Amino acid sequence: MYQSKIAGIGYYVPKNVYTNHDLTRFMDTSDEWIQERTGIQERRFADRYAETTTTMAIEAAKIAIERAKTTAQDIDFIVFATLSPDYYFPGCGVLLQREMGMHEIGALDVRNQCSGFVYALSVADQFIKTGMYKNILVVGSEKHSFAMDFETRSRNMSVIFGDGAGAVVLQPTQEKGKGILSTHLHSDGADAEILAMYYPGAHANKWMKDKPPFPDQELGGLFLTTEQLESGAALPYMDGPAVFKKAIVKFPEVIKEALSTHSFTEQDIDLLIPHQANFRISQYVQKLLGLDDNQVFNNIQKYGNTTAASVPIALCEAWEAGRIKDGNLICLAAFGSGFTWASALIRW
Ligand code: ACO
Repeated sequence: MYQSKIAGIGYYVPKNVYTNHDLTRFMDTSDEWIQERTGIQERRFADRYAETTTTMAIEAAKIAIERAKTTAQDIDFIVFATLSPDYYFPGCGVLLQREMGMHEIGALDVRNQCSGFVYALSVADQFIKTGMYKNILVVGSEKHSFAMDFETRSRNMSVIFGDGAGAVVLQPTQEKGKGILSTHLHSDGADAEILAMYYPGAHANKWMKDKPPFPDQELGGLFLTTEQLESGAALPYMDGPAVFKKAIVKFPEVIKEALSTHSFTEQDIDLLIPHQANFRISQYVQKLLGLDDNQVFNNIQKYGNTTAASVPIALCEAWEAGRIKDGNLICLAAFGSGFTWASALIRW
C-alpha cells in the first residue's frame, strides 16, 4: 500500500470584492448583522460572464500542478467537487479536462456540498493507496453568485456565500508516516431537505406542495411556471438555526474520530482547517475542543462561505502564510448539506 501526500496546492478567488455595505444596496441588511451572526466582512463574486466554476478551478489547478512540479498532461485522474456546476450535466470534471488539454483520463464529479472537497480527497487517497493513479488533481470550486437571489427575501442565505476555487495534486510518497493518515466520511439524510435546492430535481414537486401554483404535473417537475420562478421556487432553502445545531455536534465528533484513530489528542493538532461555514460555528467548535487561536485557521471574514472550495482555499492560504510546516499535524473537517460531514488527518 502506498501513502498519498499533497504535492502541490493552489487557490483562486475572483477580483470583485463585495463588502457587507455593498450588499445593503440590494437588500435590507447591515454590516453589523452579518458580522455578528457570521463573522463575514466581504466576499468575492466571479465575473458574471467571463468566469465559471470550471475557469476558477483551472486557475487554482494551474498553481497546484506547478507547485507539484508536474504538468497537466501528467495528471492521471480528476476529482471535482462542486454544488454549482457550469451545467446541470455534464459535470465540471470533463470541462476542466478539455480546457487544460489533459489526456483522456477519468474525471469524477463529487456532489457533497460543503464536505465535497474532503470527500474528493478521500476518493483520490484510495486510488493513490492502491497504486492505480500517481498524479490526481482534486478540486473544489463554486460560483454561487450565479444562482443567488439578492432580494431581502433571501438575505439569510445570500449574505453568507462567496465564489472561489482551491485545488491540490495528490501523489504517492515514500516518506514513512507522512501524508494523508486517514479520512473519515459520514452522512445522515434524515434532514436532507433543510439545506437544499429542490429544482431542477425529479422529486422537487413534493417540496412545493405548500407553495402554489404547482408545477405542471403533466410535464413533470423539471418545468417551473413563470410565476413560480418569480416567487423564488428555484432558490436554495436553508433552516439556519437547524443547520447550526447539527454542525456544532458533527464537526467535533468527526475531528475526535480522526484523532482517536491514531491515539492523538486535540493538543496534537498543529492546525485545524474547518470548512468555513460560519465564523460562529468555527468558534464554537474551537472552544468545545479546547483549541488555541493558533491551532485553528479561519478566512471566512474575507471570502464568505465558498462551500466545496472553502477547505482547499483555507489550506492553501494557511500554507502560503507559513502556518503549515514540515511535519505538522493538520486536520481538515467539513459539514454541509445532506447532511454530510468528513475529516482528514494529514502529517505534512
Ligand atoms: N440581515 C438582516 N436581518 C436578517 C438577515 C440579514 N442578512 N437574515 C435574516 N435576518 C433576520 C430574519 O429575517 C429574522 O428576522 P425576524 O426575527 O424579524 O423574523 C432574524 O434575522 C433572525 O432570522 P434567523 O434566520 O433565525 O437568523 P439566525 O439568527 O438564525 O441567523 C444564520 C441566521 C446566520 C444563517 C444562522 O442561523 C446560522 O449561523 N446558521 C448556521 C448555518 C450556516 O452557517 N450555514 C452556512 C451554510 S451551510 C454550511 O456551510 C454547513
